[in-house]
Amino acid sequence: MTLLEVRDLHVEFHTRDGIAKAVNGVSYEVAAGETLAVLGESGSGKSVTAQAVMGILDVPPGRITGGEILFQGQDLLKLPEEERRKVRGARMAMIFQDALSSLNPVLSVGYQLGEMYRVHQGTSRKEARARAVELMDRVRIPAARERVNDYPHQFSGGMRQRIMIAMALALEPELIIADEPTTALDVTVQAQVMDLLAELQREYRMGLILITHDLGVVADVADRIAVMYAGRIVERAPVRELYAAPAHPYTRGLLDSIPRVDQKGRELNAVKGLPPSLLSIPPGCAYNPRCPMARPVCRTDEPPLYEVTEDRASACHFWKEMLDAP
Ligand SMILES: Nc1ncnc2c1ncn2[C@@H]1O[C@H](COP(=O)(O)OP(=O)(O)O)[C@@H](O)[C@H]1O
Ligand code: SF4
Ligand SMILES: [Mg+2]
Repeated sequence: MTLLEVRDLHVEFHTRDGIAKAVNGVSYEVAAGETLAVLGESGSGKSVTAQAVMGILDVPPGRITGGEILFQGQDLLKLPEEERRKVRGARMAMIFQDALSSLNPVLSVGYQLGEMYRVHQGTSRKEARARAVELMDRVRIPAARERVNDYPHQFSGGMRQRIMIAMALALEPELIIADEPTTALDVTVQAQVMDLLAELQREYRMGLILITHDLGVVADVADRIAVMYAGRIVERAPVRELYAAPAHPYTRGLLDSIPRVDQKGRELNAVKGLPPSLLSIPPGCAYNPRCPMARPVCRTDEPPLYEVTEDRASACHFWKEMLDAP
């Protein structure tokens, strides 16, 4: 069953220098209980797409200029703000990179967790506090009962991220969007937080959109991947198939940039060159100035998202060659 379907979404930002085309026709789907990883370099439109889904886009300067966001068949873009607010938190929740700036520094974590129940369900203070402790246990914060009155800054980065996960889980939403949830953490803590999130997602059978620029993180937890470049999806595939044989040169570039175990300490070779300015995306294929496979047609004809198989797609004119290459 499709939980979320984003269809041909367009978002622009009006800036002093012109119109930045941040999202240019993004479509993706998430089924109940499924994890979709959204991958791409910084500035490719991953967060803006997520903000549009959550209904927390900065408007202005942002503006949704086209598309649909169907949540269980209902177009969220057509809902009045009042209705939208009810969906947010209760039926879909978001986890951000930086817990410290998402949590209120002057309120205890117990109060903030309990607030979810008080506000949305009219739970009493005492009951809300008890459920906050339960939640902290669920995300394995040691000594939850003793720490429920502590403030965000009294927790480590990893523990704060667990509190954010607890906050997102509180009302048992059907969909969670995690936007670079572990980027700010130490590598070892990253893995622990990621494992916890994956485990809870399975247990609650939630849909999960996991935004990251780290291919290494998604290998174990995601079912499918959508790769974004310059506000478009350039490749969409089940995780294993994408890792085995990418059908887009940009995905290949990302895969080649994963640091190998045997290369520890060596500089990771990021994809060469810079992403285009969103104020003037190059004609043809937006990736052509950086693409090692680019040919004249790439500078003139924009590749559509070609269907590769039933559940794979690639926006490269030469996807067949990519897959045939040894
Ligand atoms: N509040 C904003 N004001 C102006 N432009 C913005 C704003 N937020 C995002 N953008 C534009 O949208 C682009 C995509 O941003 P974003 O979705 O955050 O990228 P990422 O893929 O790193 O999450 C940015 O490079 C920027 O040009
Ligand atoms: S369409 Fe051309 S420029 Fe774009 S990714 Fe494919 S080969 Fe490279
Ligand atoms: Mg982002």
